[in-house]
Amino acid sequence: MGDPRPIGVFDSGIGGLTVLKALWERLPNESTLYLGDTARVPYGTKSAEVVTRYTEQNARFLIERDIKLLVVACNTASAVALPHLERRLQVPVLGVISPGAQAAAERSRSGRIGVIGTAGTIRSGAYARALEAVRPGVEVVGKACPLFVALAEEGWVSGEVPRLVAREYLAELKDAGVDTLVLGCTHYPLLKPLLHTLLGADVRLIDSAEETAAETARVLAEAGLDAPNDARPTYRFVCSDDPARFLTLGQRFLGGAIDHVERHPLG
Ligand code: DGL
Repeated sequence: MGDPRPIGVFDSGIGGLTVLKALWERLPNESTLYLGDTARVPYGTKSAEVVTRYTEQNARFLIERDIKLLVVACNTASAVALPHLERRLQVPVLGVISPGAQAAAERSRSGRIGVIGTAGTIRSGAYARALEAVRPGVEVVGKACPLFVALAEEGWVSGEVPRLVAREYLAELKDAGVDTLVLGCTHYPLLKPLLHTLLGADVRLIDSAEETAAETARVLAEAGLDAPNDARPTYRFVCSDDPARFLTLGQRFLGGAIDHVERHPLG
């Protein structure tokens, strides 16, 4: 038996492909339908109300295409709109905040944890709440790093410019003496080597993408929604603006494993 329907994944753009990649690695039998809302990206600078509206439209689009589980790969959308979606949808819904917070809370020795993300994610306080829920008394230092998104999209993940930007953003977190840093934005895993160099080996970097894939595997198994053992997975990509740009950036994020993108207007 098994359930061959795809896992739906959406992000404000292409950043969520880091989560998709982690899902493919963790769940090689599963089909995926990825939606990137490239016409309305970025979400990180928008109000919670607007992001919630976009999030609901994206979720509906995927539900209408018969997904069996929804992964909200966008940290900003997860931070402000996850409870809203959970109340409205009939399929299991996973965000990226709680898997990342869980892993950070478990791995931090000192209980002093840094979180970096978009302005919307940091302003929402969602990571701080999720961390406090799993490890009461934890000290959370949040820092919005909006320029990291642009740098990752441009492929500027090493060299002088990203190094200077990262040094500026990370100064506060270093001063605070965090021993664990949550990469609370889809794009930040691309900057991992640079962040690791600047922060040193004593600071653990938590990548929500890997944690979310592990949590998805757990939820699928628990709900009996795993794909059949002999499934031949299909990977479909949809975006709401120029598919050519999505393809170019997607190939950068996924290392080439994408050759066709459909375009659908949303909202
Ligand atoms: N996907 C967003 C996030 O993870 C980053 C890009 C945006 O601002 O839309 O928060």
